[in-house]
Amino acid sequence: MSLKYEQFKNHLQKVGDLKYAANVLHWDQEVYMPKNGAGPRAQQLATLSGVIHELSTDKKLGDLLAELRTDSTLTFEQKRNVEDAFDKYTKNLRYDVSFVQEMSMAVSEAFQSWNKAKEASDFSMFAPHLEKLVKLKRQETEILGYTDHPYDALLDQFEPKAKTADITALFEDVKSVMVDFVKEIAACPQNDDAFMSAHYDKDDQWDFGIELLTQMGYDFDSGRQDVSSHPFTTNFSATDVRVTTRINENDLNEMIWSCIHEGGHALYEQGLPTEEYGLAGGEYLSLGVHESQSRLWENNVGRGKSYWKANYASLKAKFPEALGNVSFDQFYRGMNIVKPSLIRTNADELTYHFHIIIRFEIEKALIEGSVEVNDLPALWNAKYKEYLDIDVPSDAMGVLQDIHWAHGGFGYFPTYSIGSFYAAQFYATAKEEIPGLEAEIEAGNMKPLLAWLREKVHAHGRIYTADELCERITGSKLNFSHFMTYARAKYSELYAMAPVSQEA
Ligand code: CO
Repeated sequence: MSLKYEQFKNHLQKVGDLKYAANVLHWDQEVYMPKNGAGPRAQQLATLSGVIHELSTDKKLGDLLAELRTDSTLTFEQKRNVEDAFDKYTKNLRYDVSFVQEMSMAVSEAFQSWNKAKEASDFSMFAPHLEKLVKLKRQETEILGYTDHPYDALLDQFEPKAKTADITALFEDVKSVMVDFVKEIAACPQNDDAFMSAHYDKDDQWDFGIELLTQMGYDFDSGRQDVSSHPFTTNFSATDVRVTTRINENDLNEMIWSCIHEGGHALYEQGLPTEEYGLAGGEYLSLGVHESQSRLWENNVGRGKSYWKANYASLKAKFPEALGNVSFDQFYRGMNIVKPSLIRTNADELTYHFHIIIRFEIEKALIEGSVEVNDLPALWNAKYKEYLDIDVPSDAMGVLQDIHWAHGGFGYFPTYSIGSFYAAQFYATAKEEIPGLEAEIEAGNMKPLLAWLREKVHAHGRIYTADELCERITGSKLNFSHFMTYARAKYSELYAMAPVSQEA
């Protein structure tokens, strides 16, 4: 390894140390911190992020990058690590201190006003703060630069190299087939899931969740699970990846789906190459690819028949009162109910995408300046009527439901849907390449699938772009038809519909 590359690697590892130290503080804040710790903790995190910014824009790093970019002795992986770092370095340099401070003030004010507005269910309380944020975000698109659409600059922060035009086209595909498909399902006799809201003891749920994580291959020597109000995964290194879950004694769904979902995120982080710590090769590729891992486990595996053939007996044994009279078939149907609903986070795996499309269309319009903040509630409600045929009763259950905009997270939402579509495409290939995959899952053996994901996705960190990775794995770029093939096969059976031959 060249001396310069070694120095570059050391520099980025230090930045990594600080970033992961900040993650520990964030994790503690969500899981264990007493409420009086909030003030000093915010200060500690602000100081750390200042130091991270200094180190990330250090001239020494810039000089190293300039030399390494012309070094022809580097391997392909080393070149990609350097290019990724160069891209981040040049972007970091574009922010001046006053803009960063103004943004962080605007975000904290917007966040507080969003909390109050949501409680009062009154969008007008949040509107002036959101207006300010949108103005700053539009400024940020100019700071970062873009070639086609200003929203590209924001999208790129979560899904590097993704383009607004491609996502718009993708979502047009989704709408063109899914609106009708969901209507077809709604016209069929409906399944029942009342048993999911029977009483389920907290401790027994916890134990079952641990069983599921263990079976998936989550390594408890390199992580742990705790409880938090919003389930999440965070990492301090590939050998310390934490997950949290949420348990509701009157709704089994919350624990099961959060455990499997966060477990999927965590397996990705635990599978990243430890020797590439702090470099692109040791970090996740994009939020879309991250979400592909959580959703592949949650939906393609976890909501599948084989998975519950492996696990339903154990679940039933833990909750004989709630599930004693619920057959396997009833359980499988109950956990796969498709029904348009108001709240994104409770949506089923099909109608979920309309929640995302609505948010994408609105934030894209805000950033390009084709709608005004004050028009949002009416626009939101009209889109829910158009795509999901439901009436939104209040701002709290409508335009104010998500935290993302209050946090300044514009460009984040599309990654959720992209993740599901990647998941379906990856899983279709996994089925072709892993002999007897469904039979292995049915036997409770998740090892072949995990080994495949490790080799195809986890081992590469961010060495490839998402397009490149998807092509390497599946032979083509992201293509929504895989999701529709999966959805049609599964839900036609669940709802006893006539088979449809035409595909998107
Ligand atoms: Co997720």
